[in-house]
Amino acid sequence: MTLFSSSRRLAFLLVLTIIAAPVSAASPDPARGTGGAVASAAPAATQAGLEILRAGGNAVDAAVATALALAVVHPQAGNLGGGGFAVARMDGEATALDFRETAPAAASHDMYLDAKGEPVTERSLVGPLAAGVPGSPAGLWELHQRYGALDWAQVVAPAIRLAGDGFVVTARLEKSVAKAAQLLGRFPETAAVWLPGGEPPAAGSLMKLPDLAATLAAYAERGPEAITGGPLAAAIEIVSNRHGGILKAADLKAYRSVWREPVVFDAFGWRVASMPLPSSGGIILGQTAGLLERIEWQRTPRFGAERAHLLVEAWRRAYADRFLLGDPSTSRATAADLLDDEWLDRRARELRSRRATPSDEVRSWSLPAARESTETTHLSVADGAGNVVSITTTLNGSFGCGLLVPGVGFLLNNEMDDFAAAPGRPNLYGLIQGEANAVGPGKRMLSSMSPAVAWRETETMALGSPGGSTIPTVTVQVLLNVMVDGDDLQAAVNRPRIHHQWMPDQIEVEPDALAPETAVELERRGYRLKARNRLGEVNAVRVTSAGTVEAAADPRGPGSAGVVQPAPGS
Ligand code: DON
Repeated sequence: MTLFSSSRRLAFLLVLTIIAAPVSAASPDPARGTGGAVASAAPAATQAGLEILRAGGNAVDAAVATALALAVVHPQAGNLGGGGFAVARMDGEATALDFRETAPAAASHDMYLDAKGEPVTERSLVGPLAAGVPGSPAGLWELHQRYGALDWAQVVAPAIRLAGDGFVVTARLEKSVAKAAQLLGRFPETAAVWLPGGEPPAAGSLMKLPDLAATLAAYAERGPEAITGGPLAAAIEIVSNRHGGILKAADLKAYRSVWREPVVFDAFGWRVASMPLPSSGGIILGQTAGLLERIEWQRTPRFGAERAHLLVEAWRRAYADRFLLGDPSTSRATAADLLDDEWLDRRARELRSRRATPSDEVRSWSLPAARESTETTHLSVADGAGNVVSITTTLNGSFGCGLLVPGVGFLLNNEMDDFAAAPGRPNLYGLIQGEANAVGPGKRMLSSMSPAVAWRETETMALGSPGGSTIPTVTVQVLLNVMVDGDDLQAAVNRPRIHHQWMPDQIEVEPDALAPETAVELERRGYRLKARNRLGEVNAVRVTSAGTVEAAADPRGPGSAGVVQPAPGS
């Protein structure tokens, strides 16, 4: 029996539904100051970023240090064996770095199909056949090369210390390992580290990762070649071969991160920059905002049914268009096509009805209900000079494909599942994707990650979220809370959220996101509502032109936010 046969898959999804923590009513204290700010999924990683800011680092130095610390203390999603995206605004210039994984050279269109042409989900999720070529070693280095102010070794140092001297296991980590024990236990290499004696490391205990510390030390000394060449790359190829993978040292060597033009759009008095292809995230944010502006969404009562109705109808169309997207080399549409004025005008005219448009009428495919929620992580950093960095990084599933590379100390991703294994059919998490996102050697799999920065004359913010297909809808709601309704940052992050992704045709609703009468009215308009305990986990920062900084971690998770106060007299 396979790990993800349909009954197990159901159980897996059910467990995800049940254990997701409800949104807590209490909010963490908002962190405010003047010397820089960090918000991330783990306190030790936030501290690493703050340490680098205090040492005189800029937002990029601190963001890279935070990301590397997450690779140690938050191995569910923080990584060196995965990839991600960074969107930054440094000295007033918005940039986007793509360090998304690529398909190995030996990957092929039908590699996840059985003889009958049916997708074999386990193959794209478990073990090294599911792994894309890691992008993080090259990406974090490249980001620092271009913008960093401190020495590279200084930026890597906090992560080396955490891995070498040890860090205190959090309750979240213990729980995540326990939940993934079946996956991690399949690989003796992984179990030896993460399930010592068959048990997850206990919350409160000290965890040391000596192999990872050595890998990080080599990375600090020699940059990405320390991992993408020589004995470490060879170790990755060996363990991949051993477990049926196709990842080769040559793939690692050939990998390049890519600077891309961010998707930039104006909305509600702000300018927003987010990730272009191979992420659909920036396009979905831009389409949503563009449609809402056209229909003067800001004039609808904030908590009424009309507002939710129009938001959902905008998302329905943006996610239908997502079907056309994929790696820039094969995508059937570009950001320019989908953010084109004429296209948005046409789509906006469809939003006039007061009834739900069935998704089948926006596109003609249908698919069973499913959900996406595994592990990704977002961090946001601001420095005192007004620069901001927004990084979303992931192994895709929690602990990726489950395989830890012995002697190297990090887990490999299972990002290959983000490709359309069988174009036109739903993936494990209900996203229906097109031929544009079919598997192909060297291609980058389509993402939903939406690291974003937004600014106007008086202030700049950075934000983003994990949550698979829900990332763009979560992110845009926090943006709208600030841009349209003037919420302060923490309130904008805390506010309950909803989600719709075209297919399945339903609105997912966090507790208290809709007033009872609003829910009734939406159902009257033809919507199906489905309760969901939590949507996303946003980490955000904001810096004003006067240099005041603010950081907000999401009460939906145990993340942490902190600020630096400049030393007296500085
Ligand atoms: O790139 C993507 O869209 C997915 N691999 C992200 C996965 C994710 O967010 C899981 N997180 N909770």
